[in-house]
Amino acid sequence: GIELGKLLATTGYITHDPGFVNTGAASSAITYIDGDAGILRYRGYPIEQLAEKSTFIEVSYLLIYGELPTQAQLEEFTGKIQRHTLLHEDLKAFFSGFPRDAHPMPVLSSAVSALSTFYQDSLNPFDEANVELSTIRLLAKVPTLAAYAYKKSVGQPLLYPDNSLGLVENFLRMTFGFPAEPYEVDPDVAKALDLLFILHADHEQNCSTSTVRLVGSSEANLFASISAGINALFGPLHGGANSAVLDMLEGIQAEGGDVANFVTRVKNKEKGVRLMGFGHRVYKNYDPRAKIIKNTADEILSKLKGGDQLLDIAKKLEETALSDDYFIERKLYPNVDFYTGLIYRALGFPTKYFTVLFALGRLPGWIAHWREMIQDPATKIGRPRQIYTGYASRDYAPISER
Ligand code: ACO
Repeated sequence: GIELGKLLATTGYITHDPGFVNTGAASSAITYIDGDAGILRYRGYPIEQLAEKSTFIEVSYLLIYGELPTQAQLEEFTGKIQRHTLLHEDLKAFFSGFPRDAHPMPVLSSAVSALSTFYQDSLNPFDEANVELSTIRLLAKVPTLAAYAYKKSVGQPLLYPDNSLGLVENFLRMTFGFPAEPYEVDPDVAKALDLLFILHADHEQNCSTSTVRLVGSSEANLFASISAGINALFGPLHGGANSAVLDMLEGIQAEGGDVANFVTRVKNKEKGVRLMGFGHRVYKNYDPRAKIIKNTADEILSKLKGGDQLLDIAKKLEETALSDDYFIERKLYPNVDFYTGLIYRALGFPTKYFTVLFALGRLPGWIAHWREMIQDPATKIGRPRQIYTGYASRDYAPISER
C-alpha cells in the first residue's frame, strides 16, 4: 500500500478519499482495532482485561512507553506526575479572562496551548529530555487545568492540588472540593472515573489523534499539538457526542419518553436528528467499550442515584434501534459515548463538561501518538492534495465593473 501510494504520487494521480475513510496515514504499534469483530487492544492487551485489572495511570504508562510498568517504574512515574501538578501562578489568572458561561473545551485547549508560553524549553520536538518533561507536565497539569475550567464555570475558588492523592482523586477534589474544607473522595466515584479514562485512553487514528499527528508533523511541539487535538475532540460528531447523547435523552424525556417516535424521526433523516452515541467509522459491530460501560452503568447508577429514568430511555432506544432494519442494514451499534454521559451526570458533572472528561482520558493516547510520530523516520509533514473544482482561469475586473 505504501509503495503504491508513492508510485501514484509520482504519476500525478491523486486518491480522492474524503474523511480519509481508506487512507493509512501512519504506521503505529500503539492500538489495534478490528471493527468487524469488535476488538480493541492497547499494545496488544485486550481492553476488557485492562478495564478489569489495570488503572488509568498504568494504562497511560503502557500507551506512552509500550510496556506495562514494573512496581518501581510505576512508583517513579506516579511520583514524577505528582510533582508537576501545580500551575504557574500567572497561568491561574488566565481563567479569569473568559466569560463565566464559556464552554470548558475551548477554555481547556487555550490553557494547554498557553503551556508553550510558560515552558519555552518545550519548543524543540527532537529534544528527548524535554519531550519527556512535557509529557509529565501534560499528564500532571491537564487535570488541574480541567478542574479550573470547571471551577471557573461555576464561579468557585480554585484549589491547589493535594499531592498526597492519586491522579483521579486529586482531580475530583480540585473539581468538587472547597478550600479549607475536607473533601472525602468517594471510592466508587474514583473507580468509575478511572475506568472511563482507561476506556477512552486511545483509539488509533480518530479525528483528534490524527489532528495531533498532523499538527505535530510540522514539528510543532507537544503542547500545541495536543491543544489542536482538544479542539478536534470538541465537535459533536467526535468527543462532543457524549454531551449530545444526554441532550437527546433529556429531549425525549421532556416529550413524554416516546422512543419510537424519535427513532422514526432519525430514520426519516430529519435535519439535525441523528441517534447520537450510535454508529462508528470503524466499528461495524458493538463497540467493546460501550459493552463494558453498559455493564457498569447499571451498577454505578443504582449505587449513586438509586436508578435513573434516562438510563431506561437509553436502553429502550438501544433495543428499538438494534431490532430495526435501518440500523441493522447500516451496522449502527452503540459507541463509547452512548452510556458515558449518564455516568458522568451521576458523578455530578454538568453536561457541558462531559467532553473535558473525554479529553482527560484521551490525553495519554495523544501523547503516545505524537511521540511515535516524531520518532518515526518515515514521518513527513502532513499535506493532503485536492481535486480542484474552481474556475480554470479568469481576468481581474476593476471593482466598478463587477
Ligand atoms: N443515526 C442515524 N443514522 C446514522 C447514524 C446515527 N447515529 N450514524 C450513521 N448513520 C447513517 C448515515 O445517515 C448513513 O446513512 P446513508 O447510507 O443512508 O446515507 C450511514 O449510516 C453511514 O453513516 P456515515 O455518516 O457515512 O458514517 P461515518 O463513518 O462518516 O460517520 C459517525 C461515523 C460520525 C460516528 C456517525 O455514525 C455519527 O454521526 N454518529 C452519531 C455521533 C456520534 O455518536 N459520534 C461519536 C463517535 S465515537 C467517538 O468519536 C468517540
